Amino acid sequence: MSNKVGTVLFDRKQLEERAREIGQQITEDYKDSDKEVIFIGILRGAVMWMTDVLKNVELECSIDFMACSSYGSSTKSSGVVKINKDLDSDIKDKHVIIVEDIVDSGITLNYLKSYLANHEPASIRICSLLNKASGRRCDIEADYVGFEVDDLFIVGYGLDYDQKYRNLPYISYLND
Ligand code: IMP
Ligand code: MG
Repeated sequence: MSNKVGTVLFDRKQLEERAREIGQQITEDYKDSDKEVIFIGILRGAVMWMTDVLKNVELECSIDFMACSSYGSSTKSSGVVKINKDLDSDIKDKHVIIVEDIVDSGITLNYLKSYLANHEPASIRICSLLNKASGRRCDIEADYVGFEVDDLFIVGYGLDYDQKYRNLPYISYLND
């Protein structure tokens, strides 16, 4: 791999293990609910995490995807969220679980959560692979978090820098 990529923070085995724990936790939390659960993956960063978690969810659930961007390809969020792909499903009266790659500033999820709340779901929770608490600029927290990360620019296992490194089977960071 390019020398821009640092050492491994979380390897394939750790990621699979955490996805299993969280998939089992979600199963436990919703197994007695009489309402449908829908997972909404945020393209493109959440894709690997979402598939690994879903393999461990034993519920009759459905999935959908949204895509949004905060402009530009820099390593900092611009603060302006734009929806590039909207939901295809009706989420009214369903339990929504938003699946995201990372909560950094929280601007994206803060916006998405209130956007989805307008569709009158039964509930909304957030399942994020990573939490970068040091980056937070909004009052928002994920309900299910894979791992805490420090103030580094993370790549791999879905996360990109300028659309690259998403295919790494592990999580690393960029050397500046
Ligand atoms: P927010 O700052 O919480 O709104 O995060 C917005 C989006 O920026 C996330 O969904 C990621 O796609 C991306 N992002 C934030 N921090 C990182 C990072 O460390 N590596 C790669 N992408 C990131
Ligand atoms: Mg991204």
